[in-house]
Amino acid sequence: MKSVVIEKPGVLRIAERERPQPGAGEVRVKVVAAGICGSDVHIFHGNNPFARYPRVIGHEFSGIIDAVGEGVDPARIGTRVAVDPVVSCGHCYPCSIGKPNVCTTLQVIGVHLDGGFSEYAVAPSRNAYPLPDCIGDDVAPMIEPFTIAANICGHLKPRPDDIALIYGAGPMGLTVIQALKGVYGVKQVIVADRLPSRLKLADASGADLLIDSSVTPLPEELTRLQIKPTLIVDAACHPAILQEAALLASPAARIGLMGFSAEPSSITQQSLTSKELSIFTSRLNSARFPEVIGWFERGQVQPATLITHAFDLEEVEKGLHLFEHDAAACCKVVLRF
Ligand code: NAI
Ligand code: MN
Ligand code: ZN
Repeated sequence: MKSVVIEKPGVLRIAERERPQPGAGEVRVKVVAAGICGSDVHIFHGNNPFARYPRVIGHEFSGIIDAVGEGVDPARIGTRVAVDPVVSCGHCYPCSIGKPNVCTTLQVIGVHLDGGFSEYAVAPSRNAYPLPDCIGDDVAPMIEPFTIAANICGHLKPRPDDIALIYGAGPMGLTVIQALKGVYGVKQVIVADRLPSRLKLADASGADLLIDSSVTPLPEELTRLQIKPTLIVDAACHPAILQEAALLASPAARIGLMGFSAEPSSITQQSLTSKELSIFTSRLNSARFPEVIGWFERGQVQPATLITHAFDLEEVEKGLHLFEHDAAACCKVVLRF
């Protein structure tokens, strides 16, 4: 089989490899489509602290179960599935309280384990979620990115009367915007970005107010409009944003963070405590695939809006390059097998 292998940082090869055999409790998936994500680019460049090399990248993928390991019902063969990349132990403290996404021995398919940019991939059987026919192969790899939105929304508990502010309209911001509008019915979703093309996608994703913060400083604009957001998500993930978010927030607001910067944020206790702000962090997803499959089935989100490009597996390097260097033209890239 063909696999996209990062041999070591900076070295990508489309390698001919043996098909993996599913172990006990595992299934093998014949991959049909996969999405390119920032972390694939980071692993390629050696900027992901969790990655081990050589590694088959890709954690957003779907396909058809074509083999099962010991203890897995052979009736699963032939099932179309989307694969949750979060592999957890099931019994540590975070697992025991429903947070397998931060399992003490967390392994992420495509990061710690070989992933989905490959003609075949193995995964624990319980990580392979059946797909209804109405979810096409083209959008199925988008389920994983939407589970990131489902996870942070699970913490923030959006309400219809919220005034939401989203920093950043990249794939992550856009999935959150679509969830806030289409799933939670939030009345006002304000989006700040610096790229007109991304703001256009935010518009197509249901945002109510777009602010180009390279043209109009956000604090100035929100003061002028007398808007105090009650729910803020930092999907741009710059460490300076938290301080500004605390300043702009309404008393009793909730702030969601999803960044992994190692740089400190500068924030006073006063700016948080005086308004009794709540800060939530969110990593990956805690068994949110069934929820998001439901969103797709009911048409509550429009995953196709985010997909700007599709390439064949052989063109993966072209896809990665475009994804990394042309955010103005490119949002989500899907690889076809
Ligand atoms: P992206 O880079 O495509 O999107 C970021 C967007 O923010 C861009 O459109 C950019 O123009 C905009 N931006 C940058 N600085 C800004 C600022 N100061 N104000 C407003 N907008 C600004 O990235 P993507 O894929 O959307 O991911 C966003 C972040 O989410 C990344 O830092 C990534 O590490 C993180 N992430 C976190 C996950 C989690 O589970 N916690 C999962 C996936 C991604
Ligand atoms: Mn991803
Ligand atoms: Zn665990």
